Amino acid sequence: MQHIVTLIPGDGIGPEVAKPTLKIIKAAGVNVQWETYLAGAEALKRHGTTIPKSLLDSFQKRRVALKGPVTTPVGEGFASVNVELRQTFDLYANLRPIKNLPGVRARYQGVDLIVVRENTEGQYSGIEHEVVPGVMESLKIITEKASTRIAKFAFEFARAHRRKKVAAIHKANIMKLTDGLFLDCARRAAADYRDIGFSDLIVDNACLQLVLDPLKLDVLLLENLYGDIVSDLAAGLVGGLGVVPGANLGDQHALFETVHGSAPDIKGKNIANPTAMILAAVMMLNHIGEKKAAQRISSALEAVLKKGERLTPDLGGSATTTKFAEAIIREIER
Ligand code: NAI
Repeated sequence: MQHIVTLIPGDGIGPEVAKPTLKIIKAAGVNVQWETYLAGAEALKRHGTTIPKSLLDSFQKRRVALKGPVTTPVGEGFASVNVELRQTFDLYANLRPIKNLPGVRARYQGVDLIVVRENTEGQYSGIEHEVVPGVMESLKIITEKASTRIAKFAFEFARAHRRKKVAAIHKANIMKLTDGLFLDCARRAAADYRDIGFSDLIVDNACLQLVLDPLKLDVLLLENLYGDIVSDLAAGLVGGLGVVPGANLGDQHALFETVHGSAPDIKGKNIANPTAMILAAVMMLNHIGEKKAAQRISSALEAVLKKGERLTPDLGGSATTTKFAEAIIREIER
């Protein structure tokens, strides 16, 4: 069977991690026709927009996309391509599995967390303005609809994946209306899922608990900004951003991506770790029903990581991106 998937290699190290990932997918026997598009600064230069219409049309039609990181200028310039894609296609659930990988040095072993982040509102609504010179205002939007939808998503996910408990993370002691509503929606959803445990944690305490004993937590349910921050913190517990994938899911569309950014400091050196992109592809393959190929790729990746002979520098090795990917392909073809 042939699949048609929208591909956004991204910029910085994006193309360097996308290229070997496509080779690995092919080696696992999956036939994908990729519709490839630029996004971000390069697209702006060539097409006058950061997200070309052809990309939007492709994703609208194909409903599945694989994406590398895209640079967003800090404090100025164009809006984040990621945020725009999430809002345009109502990709309301951001899912990040945080799990140890064999052979990857980490502060903890046995971590197995799922971060479920609301992806469309909160402080990422993009409503910011200057009130008077020297005073800026940013609005945080929290709605009952989006909060209920993401809470149900977290519980459904927990049930489908035999997870035991969901923790809603908030700051409702201070933001009594916005975070209060988010928490209230989570509590109401919890009442419909009595088979799954439920608790809530104030976000600062949640960070402390994660660093002290991440094995105590299971599925984490968070608003947009807290989810962004806490998921990076959680990635740090299992070896860093280079080894964690993410999915942005809506009712119609699914976009799979790296959690890490475009890493301009190592761009063009062929030393980027493609693991996050490969794992994003594994999530994508599961989503499109290619479960056997997904399993073959994760087993091959784990075997190479465990052997430890072809690791990229971020994992303590000296292999190039290309050598690491070739070792995975050899493992798949064994
Ligand atoms: P970053 O994730 O690009 O880099 C942070 C550090 O981790 C750097 O030292 C980098 O070399 C290292 N690193 C990241 N990925 C790696 C990999 N695969 N292998 C080895 N080392 C890796 O974060 P930073 O520097 O904050 O952001 C750079 C740009 O990326 C910014 O413009 C930001 O907006 C964008 N970004 C894009 C994302 C996306 O498109 N999903 C996500 C996060 C950031």
